Amino acid sequence: MRLLFIGFGVVGQGLTRLLLGGRESLRDNFGFAPTITGVVTGSHGSLAHPAGLDMEMLLSAAAAGGMDHYPQRGGLLRDEGSLALIQAGLADVLVEVSPTNLVDAQPALDTCRAALGQGMHLVLANKGPVCLAAAALEDQARQRGRQLRYEATVMAGTPVVSLSRETLAGSGLRAARGILNGTCNYMLTQMEAGMSYADALAQAQALGYAESDPRADVEGHDAASKAIILAWALFGRSLRLGDMSIEGITGLEGSDIQGARDAGERWKLIATIDEGGASVAPQRLPLSHPLAAVGGVSNALTWTTNNLQEVTIAGPGAGAEATGQGLLADLLAIHRHPRVDS
Ligand code: HSE
Repeated sequence: MRLLFIGFGVVGQGLTRLLLGGRESLRDNFGFAPTITGVVTGSHGSLAHPAGLDMEMLLSAAAAGGMDHYPQRGGLLRDEGSLALIQAGLADVLVEVSPTNLVDAQPALDTCRAALGQGMHLVLANKGPVCLAAAALEDQARQRGRQLRYEATVMAGTPVVSLSRETLAGSGLRAARGILNGTCNYMLTQMEAGMSYADALAQAQALGYAESDPRADVEGHDAASKAIILAWALFGRSLRLGDMSIEGITGLEGSDIQGARDAGERWKLIATIDEGGASVAPQRLPLSHPLAAVGGVSNALTWTTNNLQEVTIAGPGAGAEATGQGLLADLLAIHRHPRVDS
């Protein structure tokens, strides 16, 4: 499997480290031996080689400041744009890990359309295209007999999308409710321990949890975009951010958080999804509530179903390797079943 990465920041590098560190076990256990044939970054250059790029050298180049630091060798293409590399046919899967844009999902959305049009599979951690255009992208993928997979867009590698779409199929899904933003949950946990809002946010940014523009996290739009993605995965419903009620954690003061603690409660930023729509708002939960126990960068989701009643999963919601794992699971799913009926 030949991979073209769009973006090579925290998440792209996280996936590369997983591919590198797991190289032997992925090959021995799954017969999976992918190559990265191209990497396109927003402002740190691009690289491609039809025979594959060296993953360690890619990581070193990124650490040194950009793709210019990758050693020269024969056949190496530098500074080609994503569309040219897609059209050159040097990859089977587009791995979209560029920063999320929730306004119009561009330029990623055009890149995704071009990749599907070229007959590539599409795997994303970038939430923009899935949040704004899942139905159209899935349609295009189906017509071309290719896969669109986006496990890493919600709760990083904690497998809520595949559970919603595949494993919980037929269970009579009625609703889901959970903590979908790692940055906010991390901040609320730190603030309860006495840290200031600004320091908690700075830490979440330093740890690679926050969006490029962290207002998307603290104002609730990141959690809302994930609720929209889940509404699509669960119910095939296309919701829009503008139609949702969205409230983040910017209005919560240290005194609110301490007040809840004194009353045996805890603030959590909760997303709610059902067939009627979705919403995001801070809620004060009793400590005995299962979601109240989910601390730090962890996320959790509870599905309400007819056949199983409630099912809850908790796990990492952000971070380099945690998100890389969501992408890796999708790549392995494509490796196992590359053919899709159109
Ligand atoms: N900024 C996001 C979060 C990253 O904190 O949850 C993962 O989508």
